[in-house]
Amino acid sequence: MEPHRPETPHTPPPSLWPVGFAVGVAVLLLGLIVGWGIVLLGALLTVGFGFLWVRDVVEGTPTAPAAPEPPPPQGIGAAPVPARQAEAALPAMDEEEIHRYPRNVFLEGATLGLGALIGGIVTVPALGFAVLPAFVDQEPQGSDLGPLENFPEGEWRVATFLEDPEHGEVSRRTAFVRHNGDLNGVPSFTIISNRCAHLGCPTQPQGSLNEEDSEEIEVEHGTVTLIPTNPSGFTCPCHGGAYSIEGNRTAGPPVRALDRYEFSIRDGHLWIGKAYSVGEVEGEGKDARIKKYHRFYPGEHVDGIQQILYPFPAPNL
Ligand code: FES
Repeated sequence: MEPHRPETPHTPPPSLWPVGFAVGVAVLLLGLIVGWGIVLLGALLTVGFGFLWVRDVVEGTPTAPAAPEPPPPQGIGAAPVPARQAEAALPAMDEEEIHRYPRNVFLEGATLGLGALIGGIVTVPALGFAVLPAFVDQEPQGSDLGPLENFPEGEWRVATFLEDPEHGEVSRRTAFVRHNGDLNGVPSFTIISNRCAHLGCPTQPQGSLNEEDSEEIEVEHGTVTLIPTNPSGFTCPCHGGAYSIEGNRTAGPPVRALDRYEFSIRDGHLWIGKAYSVGEVEGEGKDARIKKYHRFYPGEHVDGIQQILYPFPAPNL
């Protein structure tokens, strides 16, 4: 006759879902620094693995306390030993040895610990970079383009300036600058990068340059050159790329609009700030609605289905 086997309760097996969940959270946090594509990936991983983890926990919750393991047989053909005799045959164990954790508890603790470690490694530096600048004296970012009087309302200037004065002339860049008039009581500017969004050639204003009226302005960190122009758009000499007056692509191989620069007004001067990439511009001048992204290399899509091929923005632009 089959010996009677005591029914053991169902306990949840060791699971790797918590590790996946922790990795998802780490990817999500990383995405907050890198870009929205990574945030989406992290959110999907977190929700997916979180769901699987919760499902395992709910389905695997034990309904009765665990029964003790039957004593192992003493050898092949050994006669069954009565329970009381077997207990007596075991060497005496002190309280500490008897109190053991089951393996699944250990694995669960280990995976949660690993997840916390990964989350910490990703989160602490990000928080540091986010919070530390508030406690550190900072030089004003960007470059001075000179007094506002040099930018008459409604007119364009081709400006060349040092993007990073510490690196000198190698950081000289060109941008197309237009004063749009006031917006909410503050001067509004359109500042478009001349770098083609196809392969990075320098684009040109479609129209004449008034070199005779060009100005050289001395600012704190070098010289700024301003050349008046009256363009109808911008063109690229390399492969025929063409852009509208707001920098939208109108023809040729470029994959997006021309990049733009942030700006600020300080002590009556126009300062050029960080560059960013643009998917498309709707409207004009100070009423323009700009689809703004982190700065990507030329040739990289920032919107549409192709953007999934370029999850990371350019690190040093
Ligand atoms: S680099 Fe401008 S069109 Fe190719």
